[in-house]
Amino acid sequence: MREEIFDPQRCFAKAKFVRRRIPRASRGGILALVVLSQALLGVDCSGIKQRMYEPADRDRWQQPERVIASLAIEPGQRVADLGAGGGYFTFHLAKAVGLEGRVYAIDVDPDMTALLERSVAEGNHSNVEVLLVDPTEPELPDVGFDLIFTCNTYHHIDERTAYFERVKSTLNRGGRVAIIDHKPEGWFQKIFPHSSQRESIRSEMDAAGYRLDRDYDYLSKQSFLVFSPEPD
Ligand SMILES: C[S@@+](CC[C@H](N)C(=O)[O-])C[C@H]1O[C@@H](n2cnc3c(N)ncnc32)[C@H](O)[C@@H]1O
Repeated sequence: MREEIFDPQRCFAKAKFVRRRIPRASRGGILALVVLSQALLGVDCSGIKQRMYEPADRDRWQQPERVIASLAIEPGQRVADLGAGGGYFTFHLAKAVGLEGRVYAIDVDPDMTALLERSVAEGNHSNVEVLLVDPTEPELPDVGFDLIFTCNTYHHIDERTAYFERVKSTLNRGGRVAIIDHKPEGWFQKIFPHSSQRESIRSEMDAAGYRLDRDYDYLSKQSFLVFSPEPD
């Protein structure tokens, strides 16, 4: 375990989305959960967030290999993992692009980018670049992406239509945007509303100038949609 004094206020202070999305009444419960996790698991702030993003049963319902296969990523491609968090998909994506390709693991939370930097160094993942973006202006680097992949992050993004309209200029010809986000279903989503309506994703991306290429329905908890920019 790294040496870090755990401070729940600081931990959540950076998680702007928690303050904005979670009703005030639920925050006390979350803090209690966080403190309990800290006591039980002895992990630091980024470790707690990673455990929240990556529950123990995630592989079962997330089916990461099937998701990656659906995306038909080619070796050498450049992929953004937008809102990479603890890197759940980052390293699957890195395997798919191979050593000739590059994955940009992008996040607004310095706790998560620091954790990712450590994972990249420990695993010697030379094809992964970690980028901390400004939460007030979370723009993507203009490196020419073949795929912008984002999982459980879409609902965090402000002014999504304008954002994804701007993002088009960072895509290569034939580039795509893949969005996986929680469906607003089940008791957990009612208490911690971190989700998007599938139809909202479709209409916002339509307004941003994208057409729907694929709509996968095999993820029980999430929508999984792939878009391409409409030709000019
Ligand atoms: C629920 S986590 C998902 C992490 C990871 N994609 C996964 O599937 O486990 C959402 C992440 O998105 C990040 N985030 C929120 N808004 C963002 C933005 N505008 N740009 C980039 N990252 C963002 C948060 O800091 C957080 O790490």
